[in-house]
Amino acid sequence: MVNLDKYSSIFIANWKLNGNSSFLKDYYEKLKVNSNNCTIICSSSIYLKSLKGNNENLFCGAQDVSFYKKGAYTGELSASMLKDNNIDFCLVGHSERRQYFAETNNIVNIKTTNLIEENIIPVICIGETLEQKENKLTEEVLSTQIKDSIPNTANHQNVLIAYEPVWAIGTGLTPTLSEINQVHELIKNFDQKYINFKVLYGGSVKSSNSKEINELRYVDGCLIGGASLKVDEFNTIIS
Ligand code: PGA
Repeated sequence: MVNLDKYSSIFIANWKLNGNSSFLKDYYEKLKVNSNNCTIICSSSIYLKSLKGNNENLFCGAQDVSFYKKGAYTGELSASMLKDNNIDFCLVGHSERRQYFAETNNIVNIKTTNLIEENIIPVICIGETLEQKENKLTEEVLSTQIKDSIPNTANHQNVLIAYEPVWAIGTGLTPTLSEINQVHELIKNFDQKYINFKVLYGGSVKSSNSKEINELRYVDGCLIGGASLKVDEFNTIIS
């Protein structure tokens, strides 16, 4: 398993349903990994194997994993299959999975458990919608997501948390810096056992705001969607 303690910052590119072979080739030729940070590229699963570079601080992450371990589940990809392909990280519970594919906290919990058993580090995504924020429900929503989706086997070395306000994803909107810091502090303090967990921020991170977000006391890195598709932009973010 990747030693998370080694890194002060972790940057994850979430390419979502984007990219093809020539995009990958060009991207990897231009990508400049900073050896102080952990950089993880989450491409579509079919490309994961071809992404393995030879930089020891560059890793591959899947964007999803099956809830099932094996069996008659056409189209699924198990945690052990990811491991068999040397995949070190996997996003779980991204808001797009929760919204479009009915992924519940319970499903996230089981996926996380399966990944931990295979020594793959799950990146558990949590976050409130705009309506929940406006109704001052952020704390309650996050607390439930954490309690219900993080299994007891999780610890600060085998799980990452990503705080991604749903209303900030792909919109160009972000919480203020102090809001981000406060929410991250809150997450780490929900229970003593989360105090050392690394918590990444995601939602409209780009080169013009990544530095100040990443420098916040309770932020341990960023999860980047749209801006990670432009390699020069992503190079600036991870530099
Ligand atoms: P965004 O996406 O950076 O495009 O807002 C973040 C994410 O979906 O993880």
